[in-house]
Amino acid sequence: MVKVLVIYHSQSGNTEAMAKAVAEGAKSAGANVVLKKATEANAEDLLTCDVVAIGTPNYFGYMAGLVKDYFDRVWIVIRDKVAEKPYATFGSKGGGGAQALETVENICNGLKMRKVLDGVMATRQPSEAVIGQCKEMGMKLAKPEKMKAVGIREPRL
Ligand SMILES: Cc1cc2nc3c(=O)[nH]c(=O)nc-3n(C[C@H](O)[C@H](O)[C@H](O)COP(=O)(O)O)c2cc1C
Repeated sequence: MVKVLVIYHSQSGNTEAMAKAVAEGAKSAGANVVLKKATEANAEDLLTCDVVAIGTPNYFGYMAGLVKDYFDRVWIVIRDKVAEKPYATFGSKGGGGAQALETVENICNGLKMRKVLDGVMATRQPSEAVIGQCKEMGMKLAKPEKMKAVGIREPRL
């Protein structure tokens, strides 16, 4: 069974609602889903999953500090062990842009992970349409063998 890991940070619940929708979609497609706040996740979670979805709010044009903290904590253990692992990003912003997702992608790119879907970004509370996109993301991630890389970039780290 495919193991889908969903890691996220959320203070006011917007990204959390999206994380739950991604998890629900993946479960409905038959995956074994692990849904964890970034503060509770460890290196083993990432090493043992087949595919990961990473969710973050936009904080000052960057990922949330506690998502960055996750990468900081696990980097040394995982850095040579997650190449080609499929991933996707999602999150919520206020009035700004989607830079938070791009900063997560930069790190995943540096780890040589494989972005397999375009990120889903809500403005504040996710609409029903965005929740639908998140469920769809989860359903697609449950079948990672069918997914090709999107938006390949040179590592910049
Ligand atoms: C510390 C902090 C910094 C923020 N910085 C930005 C920002 O630079 N750009 C932006 O669009 N929204 C910013 N926001 C708004 C959040 O991204 C937005 O409210 C989001 O929906 C919060 O998601 P959450 O409910 O998952 O915590 C900021 C919020 C906080 C708490």
